[in-house]
Amino acid sequence: MAGAAGSDPYRARMDAALPWNNPLPEAVVDHVVARLDLVPGSRLLDVGCGRGELLARALTTAGVTATGIDPDQAELERARARLGEASARVVWHACGVADVPPPDRAAGSFDAALCIGATHAFADRREGLPATLDALTVLLRPGGVLAVAEGYWRQLPDAGYLAATGIGRDDYRTHAENLALGERRGLLPEFIAVSSLGDWDHFEGAHERAALEPHARHPEDEAARARAEQRRVWTDAYRRWGRATLGFAVYVFRLPVASARRSGSRPTASA
Ligand SMILES: C[S@@+](CC[C@H](N)C(=O)[O-])C[C@H]1O[C@@H](n2cnc3c(N)ncnc32)[C@H](O)[C@@H]1O
Repeated sequence: MAGAAGSDPYRARMDAALPWNNPLPEAVVDHVVARLDLVPGSRLLDVGCGRGELLARALTTAGVTATGIDPDQAELERARARLGEASARVVWHACGVADVPPPDRAAGSFDAALCIGATHAFADRREGLPATLDALTVLLRPGGVLAVAEGYWRQLPDAGYLAATGIGRDDYRTHAENLALGERRGLLPEFIAVSSLGDWDHFEGAHERAALEPHARHPEDEAARARAEQRRVWTDAYRRWGRATLGFAVYVFRLPVASARRSGSRPTASA
């Protein structure tokens, strides 16, 4: 696996350019981690942990333990390396969240949970955010904190943008509608932040360079050519429409202390 991750020039460039795979700025990420209220003994869950930088920052608090879930083995390998000794305080699951053994996803067994740009772990497209909020609400203890980051429509998407990217008009809600999903579930908003256009440009620019540079260096490499071509289409759509259209926000919610849940059943809330 080490060879697989280390030999992928796209991943290596992304890893060097950005510590995470989302368009949140560092100050926001640090604030999110601080709002998890981790203390020695806290148990943290990260669904779709990717290369593990949020776990790494969270585990700087001594005595915190964590569960990191991601089916991408190469990303998990990078996460383990990034955490170093702290990796021993993480239970790693190299699979989708649905395949994690039940004892490691028991109701009420976490104090805090992250799902940053990975709501598709729980359900596809529009159903991802409500499914994530429902699932994490069950996994957290009453009074626990969850941080979920998700896209939203800044404005109605142009048909050209949808055609170029394959995104569906109904795949996202507005920012206010995303927030309302949490509030309808009785979750208490603790911190909300959106990526700026500059944050997006930084993120998209990193992906673009990571895709185009390997192709420029090795034009004979078919995989690099295909990746560069795919990225050109995406970048063009981003510049023409996406920049003004698709937002990204992180929603940090606290569960009420007197949670309706007592037996692991999901709270009822319409999506
Ligand atoms: C956009 S990345 C975000 C990674 C990380 N949270 C971050 O912010 O850097 C989405 C991650 O979700 C992971 N993922 C995809 N399907 C998943 C599933 N069923 N269960 C858990 N993670 C999943 C992907 O492998 C990927 O690493």
